[in-house]
Amino acid sequence: MNLSIPFALLCVSLPCINSASFPVGVYKTGCHSRSFWIWVQKDFLGPTWQIEIFNDTSYPVVLDDDLSAQCGYTKSRDVYGNVEVRISFLGCWVNNLNDNQFDTAVQFRARRSNGDITYLLSKSCQLLDPWNMREIICEENYMEVSVIRIVPLDRNWLKTDPQQFWPLVQGGLSQRWQVQFTVNKTQIIMSAKDAFKKGYGMNATATRVVFRTRYQSLESMILTDGDYHYNAILSIMYYTQALIRLTVNTTLACPNDPPVMTQTSLSWLTPAVLSPLVLEPSLYTTTNLKLGLNGQLIDANLIAQNHYTFQNDGNTVDVTVPIGAPGGYTESDIVNNTYGSSYRIHLFLEQEWNEQPADITRHTMFKPIVTPFQPLPPIFINYTIPENYYFNVSLGNFFPDVDLKSFIIKKVPLTVIEAKNMGFNVIKVPNANNTNAFFLQVPFNDPLVVQQYINETTSRHYTLYVTYVMTLLEKDKDFTYTEVVVCILADVVLPTYNGSCGADRLILDMTHGNLDRYWIPYIRNLPLTRDLAQSEKYVINGQGPVFHFEVPLFAVGLVYEDITLRGIMARLDWSLRDNKTLEIKSKYSVFCRFPTDRLLVCFPNGTVKATVIGLDTKPNFNPQKTHLKDPTCTPKEADDTLALFSFSVYNCGTVRKFDGDFLLYENEVTFDREVLPENQPIISRDSNYRLTLRCKYPVRDIQQFHGKLKEIPIKRGFSAVYRSSQARALKKREHDELGAVLRLSKDDTFTNFYQSEDFPVAIQRAAGLYFEVDVPRKLPGFPPAMLQECWATITPQKDGFPQWDLIANGNLKRHCAVNIFKGQHSKFGIANTGVPKTNIYVHCQLALHEAVSCQNTKRPDQETEKRSVPPAGPYPISVGPITIVKDNGVQYLHVGEKTWSSWVWILSVGLAVFVVFTIAAVSVAARIFVC
Ligand SMILES: *[C@@H]1O[C@H](CO)[C@@H](O)[C@H](O)[C@H]1NC(C)=O
Ligand SMILES: *[C@@H]1O[C@H](CO)[C@@H](O)[C@H](O)[C@H]1NC(C)=O
Ligand SMILES: *[C@@H]1O[C@H](CO)[C@@H](O)[C@H](O)[C@H]1NC(C)=O
Ligand SMILES: *[C@@H]1O[C@H](CO)[C@@H](O)[C@H](O)[C@H]1NC(C)=O
Ligand SMILES: *[C@@H]1O[C@H](CO)[C@@H](O)[C@H](O)[C@H]1NC(C)=O
Ligand SMILES: *[C@@H]1O[C@H](CO)[C@@H](O)[C@H](O)[C@H]1NC(C)=O
Repeated sequence: MNLSIPFALLCVSLPCINSASFPVGVYKTGCHSRSFWIWVQKDFLGPTWQIEIFNDTSYPVVLDDDLSAQCGYTKSRDVYGNVEVRISFLGCWVNNLNDNQFDTAVQFRARRSNGDITYLLSKSCQLLDPWNMREIICEENYMEVSVIRIVPLDRNWLKTDPQQFWPLVQGGLSQRWQVQFTVNKTQIIMSAKDAFKKGYGMNATATRVVFRTRYQSLESMILTDGDYHYNAILSIMYYTQALIRLTVNTTLACPNDPPVMTQTSLSWLTPAVLSPLVLEPSLYTTTNLKLGLNGQLIDANLIAQNHYTFQNDGNTVDVTVPIGAPGGYTESDIVNNTYGSSYRIHLFLEQEWNEQPADITRHTMFKPIVTPFQPLPPIFINYTIPENYYFNVSLGNFFPDVDLKSFIIKKVPLTVIEAKNMGFNVIKVPNANNTNAFFLQVPFNDPLVVQQYINETTSRHYTLYVTYVMTLLEKDKDFTYTEVVVCILADVVLPTYNGSCGADRLILDMTHGNLDRYWIPYIRNLPLTRDLAQSEKYVINGQGPVFHFEVPLFAVGLVYEDITLRGIMARLDWSLRDNKTLEIKSKYSVFCRFPTDRLLVCFPNGTVKATVIGLDTKPNFNPQKTHLKDPTCTPKEADDTLALFSFSVYNCGTVRKFDGDFLLYENEVTFDREVLPENQPIISRDSNYRLTLRCKYPVRDIQQFHGKLKEIPIKRGFSAVYRSSQARALKKREHDELGAVLRLSKDDTFTNFYQSEDFPVAIQRAAGLYFEVDVPRKLPGFPPAMLQECWATITPQKDGFPQWDLIANGNLKRHCAVNIFKGQHSKFGIANTGVPKTNIYVHCQLALHEAVSCQNTKRPDQETEKRSVPPAGPYPISVGPITIVKDNGVQYLHVGEKTWSSWVWILSVGLAVFVVFTIAAVSVAARIFVC
């Protein structure tokens, strides 16, 4: 094929802008039996394009639909949508050499944004298959008949006589060619020129007369023969000369019944005998019947191979094609949000018959068929075998024009490449029917797989939320399919627990299962955080397969189930919770019983429990005989050594005080000494015992528990317990055989004194400190006491260091301002400037000035040898702590081991609404002397 020569010429005479050749591969040309065939890749020309042919003066003429039908050009698409142009060998502007060699040249004009581009094409074809007497073609857009003409004269007469040469007739120079139509049994005769104007195509070539028409012309008819319908034109062309009249029967008929469709196949049924074209049915003989596909005849082998049925029973020619069979094309689409497809196949049927042996007619019918859209909902199959530990699913079945674009798994978009890189297996598996399924394998342990443990079982749910994003390759349209696959597998190993009790702690050992590492540990309703563990001195060892956990007895987080004299029943509630829903996944409780020692517990609901211990004094007192301020409030339980009080802060004479943001509840345990005689109590051998119990609640939370008290029953159990170690320290320190007390006066009048429960006391630096030593007067025969030494320390211990001397050898130090000794009261005052800035404790030692000899008459159990005067001393007494504050701000002083900031912390985690505060005890042991 040589394109350059004709178009190089054209370019000289015509504006030749952007003229180009088709790139290799985007176009094809070929010669069919009666036509040229041109193919151009579908996207190449863009959405807007046209074909131009060159008229006799080489001007490009646009081929519109009418001109195409009139001149034998068919613009079509193949089943795949590529451009296909067929040009009849007998069409206009085809260079026809003796009806044997044909040349054509066309120009495609593509409209581009930056101007038109034209592509030139030319093609030459040689006739391979000789012309029959009559040839009828039922094209997509026209019907054409050509009939051999009997040549009475010289073979070339038409060519040598331009006057007689069609189409010059149409120029009106000759009226020798005429057309006669038969419509509704009426004849209509017109000149060839008029017929041409009406859109009919006519020509006389070297050997043939050609007549062509579009389907719905004015003179066309629909003929019916039995069940069949034809588009038909009954026409005759005449050539009339003085001596001769040439008549050519150009009757045309094309069956036009639509194919019969079923779900699975399509059937194209045509009459075996095309009756409008048959003159003598009795002489009718079929000589040839052939099926063609995509412009090419196909043989029986291919027909069988493609599973087509091609039958002629004498009445009907039946071509049946299974939908989706090879040779056609299935095109996917999305209609109404549903995936589906339609099937296209381009068939043609070539039929030859004769009535006289030589009168062979060849009738060719082109039949492009498109099935209606058929929805094909995608099929999702779950092939998962849970024991394999991966999801195996597939989505099908899609025709090859659909591909997998990406996935969305648990809302994460993943291209196929990304999915593969994540270790997912993605496979396209072809099915027998030319469709594909897309397999996806996702391991159970992938983070994109949702795992859900089912409470109290050993099963978990593995859930795959998958969306396939599919794309229609030809249409650039996407659609999605979403599925949720759940597999239940009993593969959970739960943690196992072992609880034990230490001397002062509860111990939990948890052997890990295979899920608990994803859960959050909780102590009761508190997440086990590093801070909590540190502040509460939990011991944690999380290494290895066993998680070891120790909680000290009085640490926050424990539950005290029961506090009786038998012991404290403490419970550690351990749980593991889901990290999102906080649902408890696993739990275990450790119970331990500890001895009830000294303790004071202030429960959030306002209940106070406290023990008193008879051993705290010498001689020991009987705890059973203790009571609270309200003497009817006696111990809930008591034995010889221990009593347990349990009372509400609203009862038993409990005193309530506001202290800033706190409410302070205070009560006192006292022991009633047995005195003799009862009405005039002078003598007792029992110890004097007082114990102050204090609970301090934040006001905010008090309101809460007041509210709660009304509405719901008091929750039993939880509180924190703090041992009052400072109380023990004070008790030991104050234990003094003389019964003397060192008191801190509120001012220098020595009329008001701070009570033991007032400590710590804050004193401004400027104020000075006034002390009084009080030796009970009611003990007659007591020798006068002398203040020997007084000193200050910053710890409760008398021997604490550093020390500041206040009185040495009975003499005031220089910085002490006052020293009043009056009877049995020794008073002294000191200026604060001389003492340290922080808390101080003041200690003194008393000495007795004279020993008195007495006789013990009352105590039979008391050994007489031991009756003697008390030793001269020293008798230590202490008071404190006292906080010396710089300015008017009163500083909080706390006696316990814990700093105030740690209390605040505990409160801020919302745990407790209480503060255990002070157990201050004063006990005075008395000896009985009878003089
Ligand atoms: C060819 O087309 C051009 C432009 O339409 C027209 O001027 C010319 O007459 C035509 N030539 C013939 C022979 O029809
Ligand atoms: C008629 O046929 C001749 C060839 O025989 C051809 O060159 C001419 O273009 C045709 N004219 C029409 C109008 O078909
Ligand atoms: C032929 O008859 C049909 C209906 O009988 C009518 O529609 C059609 O126009 C007629 N054709 C002509 C050319 O008169
Ligand atoms: C032309 O031929 C057809 C059959 O091919 C026939 O039916 C019709 O009568 C013929 N026309 C004339 C005018 O002979
Ligand atoms: C789309 O779906 C609606 C409702 O299901 C239906 O009425 C309509 O006919 C459908 N359209 C097509 C083109 O299938
Ligand atoms: C998928 O298959 C597995 C194994 O047969 C089965 O356990 C599971 O229930 C299935 N899931 C769905 C959603 O069908």
